[in-house]
Amino acid sequence: MKSWSRSVAVAALALGTVLVAAPGAWADEKAKQLLERNGCLMCHSLLGKGGKMGPPLQSIPAWADAARIAAYIKDPKAVNEKSIMRPSRLTDAEIQTITDYIMTFKDTAQAPKGWKGD
Ligand code: HEC
Repeated sequence: MKSWSRSVAVAALALGTVLVAAPGAWADEKAKQLLERNGCLMCHSLLGKGGKMGPPLQSIPAWADAARIAAYIKDPKAVNEKSIMRPSRLTDAEIQTITDYIMTFKDTAQAPKGWKGD
């Protein structure tokens, strides 16, 4: 009986740790799903995998802030009239999730060699 209640206490503690640690990881997973399901990775790479037409997603914070990234995803031509990207059908919340994820690379982001931005 005693050991049973101890196991419950240990399990509760472990669950608490997971719940505290999870939101960031969960949001990142959600962002990756959105990028995959919306065809972003046809043109952009993410950590080495994906298309080469656009800049690698983790490089973008080297020149763009969160406001620009969100605006660009929502309506690319409003930011850069020469953009070949189509406006997305994502909700503002989904765009925010993707933007937050891209911004997690801010400290390591480097513009690819030869990339002149837009
Ligand atoms: C048809 C290919 C294509 C698709 C699909 C695409 N992109 Fe792009 N993206 C580009 C190219 C090329 C650029 C850079 C110049 C331009 O806009 O044409 C770009 C630029 C960007 C930028 C801005 C970089 C800057 O200069 O600030 C962001 C952010 C971005 N893409 C995110 C996304 C996201 C998120 C998706 C999916 C919803 C997506 N892209 C889908 C090709 C694409």
